[in-house]
Amino acid sequence: MERLVEIERFSAEDESSEVTLRPDVWSEYIGQDQIKKNLGVFIEASKKRKEALDHVLFYGPPGLGKTTLALIIANEMSANIKVTAAPMIEKSGDLAAILTNLEEGDILFIDEIHRLSPAVEEILYSSMEDFRIDIIIGSGPAAQTVKIDLPRFTLIGATTRAGMLSNPLRDRFGMSFRMQFYSSDELAKIISQASLKLNKEIIHQAALEIAKRSRGTPRIALRLLRRVRDFAEVANENDIKQHRTKYALDELGINSHGFDEMDLRLLSLLAAAKGRAMGLSTIAAALSEDEGTVEDVLEPYLLANGYLERTAKGRRATRATYDVLNITLSIEEGKLF
Ligand SMILES: Nc1ncnc2c1ncn2[C@@H]1O[C@H](COP(=O)(O)OP(=O)(O)OP(=O)(O)O)[C@@H](O)[C@H]1O
Ligand SMILES: [Mg+2]
Repeated sequence: MERLVEIERFSAEDESSEVTLRPDVWSEYIGQDQIKKNLGVFIEASKKRKEALDHVLFYGPPGLGKTTLALIIANEMSANIKVTAAPMIEKSGDLAAILTNLEEGDILFIDEIHRLSPAVEEILYSSMEDFRIDIIIGSGPAAQTVKIDLPRFTLIGATTRAGMLSNPLRDRFGMSFRMQFYSSDELAKIISQASLKLNKEIIHQAALEIAKRSRGTPRIALRLLRRVRDFAEVANENDIKQHRTKYALDELGINSHGFDEMDLRLLSLLAAAKGRAMGLSTIAAALSEDEGTVEDVLEPYLLANGYLERTAKGRRATRATYDVLNITLSIEEGKLF
């Protein structure tokens, strides 16, 4: 069965419908209140001064609205935005071409910015700081450095892996924001809003039902909404009701916390250690994932919700871990938590 709650890779269907469901104004961007408040101030100030906004970095797990926020900023600033991703910028010349094509006040959005090569990063530093780049033309003794002035632009970087960002790059962002997981109420609002755009209204209780199983993540919530809508459609219902939603989610095998297979594998691993802490490298090896992915993508939601604990010795299961896995602890074992 298709893994509906998978967060890392998303399908072509997601991509096309994300475009239509993606809010493009502040008022439709639900939650992340602290970020919205701060950004709002900076946007207003730079608009007043008629200057480009300072460079912004968004980091946090996939699907929490980083790209959406970048597009909304462009909209608010009435600025052009050029969207690209680090893997598409292979050589320093690629970045130079992008930069020299920007105009005053434009926004350059670089997704997965932790994946830039060192040579490309080097070019980015001077462009962010001095709005100037040095390009080397030719090679050997005849090589020449040409300085090119750039217009004042805003770089918006996004990454799921803040830990992999080099310090010099991180330091060059005037603002950096960590994305938060969404509460069920916030997700329910996002779901209701999207259902209107899909022309299939959802009743509040049903939206909450989906929200609770969405792992705090709008992308998952919207994906589940589309599946539930299919069930309602086939049943010839005009709106999405709670019983249909419950039925659909159960039928799809979405567990009550929205955990995906990787979450469950990680939790089972910790549970099996019976209260002992496990090192990050051991966990990564057991899951065949790299440490950074475990730390930056997999763990944050589990940590934020108390399903996992970080100690000096490593990661440890909590009581809640055993509860969600439906494992009963013996009295002796229970004393460990
Ligand atoms: N705060 C929000 N309010 C309403 N909808 C949201 C919000 N955040 C995200 N979404 C929706 O969730 C979907 C995923 O968001 P987005 O693509 O911006 O995530 P992302 O953080 O860029 O993910 P990735 O790390 O995978 O690039 C979007 O289609 C958007 O419609
Ligand atoms: Mg994105």
